Amino acid sequence: MCGIIGCVGRGDETLDVLVHGLAKLEYRGYDSAGVALANGGVSVCKRAGEIDDLRDELEGNSLSGKVGIGHTRWSTHGPPTDENAHPHQDCTGDVAVVHNGIIENYQEIRDELVAEGHEFKSDTDTEVVPHLIENALADGDSPEDAIRYVVERLDGSYAIAAVVAGHEAVFVARNDSPLVLGLGDDATYLASDVPAFRDHTDKVVYLDDGEFARLDADGWEVRNLAGERVEKAVDTVTWDAEETGKSGYDHFMLKEIHEQPRALRQCLRGRVDEMAGTVDIEDLGDLSPRRVQFVACGTSYHAAMYGAQLFQRAGVPAEVYLASEYATSPPPIGDSLVVGVTQSGETADTLSALREARARGARTLAVTNTVGSTAARECDHALYIRAGPEIGVAASKTFASQLGALNLLALGTTQTDGARDAIAALRDLPGQVQALLDENDARAVAEAYQDAGAYFFIGRGLQYPVALEGALKMKEITYKHAEGFAAGELKHGPLALVTQDTPVFAVVLGDGERARKTVGNVKEVEARDAPVVAVTDGQSDVERYADHVLEVPETHPRAGAVLANVQLQLVSYYTAKLLDRSIDKPRNLAKSVTVE
Ligand code: F6R
Repeated sequence: MCGIIGCVGRGDETLDVLVHGLAKLEYRGYDSAGVALANGGVSVCKRAGEIDDLRDELEGNSLSGKVGIGHTRWSTHGPPTDENAHPHQDCTGDVAVVHNGIIENYQEIRDELVAEGHEFKSDTDTEVVPHLIENALADGDSPEDAIRYVVERLDGSYAIAAVVAGHEAVFVARNDSPLVLGLGDDATYLASDVPAFRDHTDKVVYLDDGEFARLDADGWEVRNLAGERVEKAVDTVTWDAEETGKSGYDHFMLKEIHEQPRALRQCLRGRVDEMAGTVDIEDLGDLSPRRVQFVACGTSYHAAMYGAQLFQRAGVPAEVYLASEYATSPPPIGDSLVVGVTQSGETADTLSALREARARGARTLAVTNTVGSTAARECDHALYIRAGPEIGVAASKTFASQLGALNLLALGTTQTDGARDAIAALRDLPGQVQALLDENDARAVAEAYQDAGAYFFIGRGLQYPVALEGALKMKEITYKHAEGFAAGELKHGPLALVTQDTPVFAVVLGDGERARKTVGNVKEVEARDAPVVAVTDGQSDVERYADHVLEVPETHPRAGAVLANVQLQLVSYYTAKLLDRSIDKPRNLAKSVTVE
């Protein structure tokens, strides 16, 4: 949700470094983009649209400077216009600011500043910041003190970076929005996320809430609100810069779908002992939860639904909540372990839910992809899914890795019947996903139904979250109406929408009671002339009622869910491609949703 970047020490390359970094952060928002360079004075170039539009704008602009900041926006306050693009400036033009987050009390501050005579050019909450800095500088404060003074006035969340005329430095503050420093040999970077500068360094420092940083020619330093120096740990990122490129694929999403075998292998590596039939997850200690509450949003919520079922099947009561609901209407927690499933580790709703749980005394665990993320740092425990960076806004490989990690969590902390079989199935899963990626009929199905008015997805048990996820992916990247249902629910209302123009994707694995009942639901939609696409391992007779079949190999139901989901990811991808949609950057969305 908005990406910010800063750079000091790259001389004349600064502008290129900023723009290149913004392109890597575009997954966080792509409504507008802009940069500011400090070179005695401060010069700004910004415009509505994507980074390529900013590049065009820069062509006719002689921006220069050796110290700079940049921003790519996901609009919250005010539409995506040139005026609302960051950086924002004060009245003198000597201060430029980029911001990720939301300043909740901006209106009150703005009214006060307008009464003092400040002129505002945008509708944003952010613009109060440069004007407040302007006041503090006019009172004789240094830029560092000015920023400290300013953030004391702000309620809400922010990662802020500012440049000030006459200072070859970038000034930074953080509260509730991610911010990481990158330490190069002769240069220092800052960004909302590591991919922005991973080409230049693998050494990083994660800032904590209430911390401030100054980046200048001498390097960097971090201070707290009282102005005292803070010693920070320097971490090394474990993934390569190439992982944030497209590697020849048309889209990041397709690349990431194809990275699932590797992501799953990484997730499992060193954590399962197949001979002993046991799972050993580092750093989790002896969790042995008596009950579990999951909190998550979107795709991660679907993963959490799957995770809750794994615990229930092991006899451990488990519930799953939408994080946004949990945060404001928390249920009784008792002695539950509260598990936040969040790829980014920065989703505001999930962080709020986890904080609510902690405030009520619960132990918390983050299941996340992002080392050093807020969720990982605030929770008592973190289980990393190890999917590697995911750039496509629609989650794909991280969902598979979340399912893998939730299997490890359930197997590692409960007495699960048949654990050895489940572990063997997990071991085989990467190879099976690879085989399915190598050969599938997803493109043909997409071609057959690209003109459909709506798509429905049904499944039961572990296949129910897969149905929901299949529908979410379809709506996100094709902009078509798509809904997922527990198969038994169709007849309680949604069946009224089913026509010959609404393909129904039925996930039917195995031939047990669930499969038989879902086949019954398939017959109900077939009787209403709806085309049926069966995603099946061929054990039931669903193929008899299906117009198309997407095959998955026969395996353990836990693994089958991952495989069925891969088929549905591919159908959504190819449908969106046929419809010429903006697959990696769907309209109105951003990857890391840092606002509530
Ligand atoms: C959908 C998608 C979103 C995220 C949701 C939570 O493709 O990516 O629904 O799953 O915003 O994000 P994280 O997992 O970062 O908390």
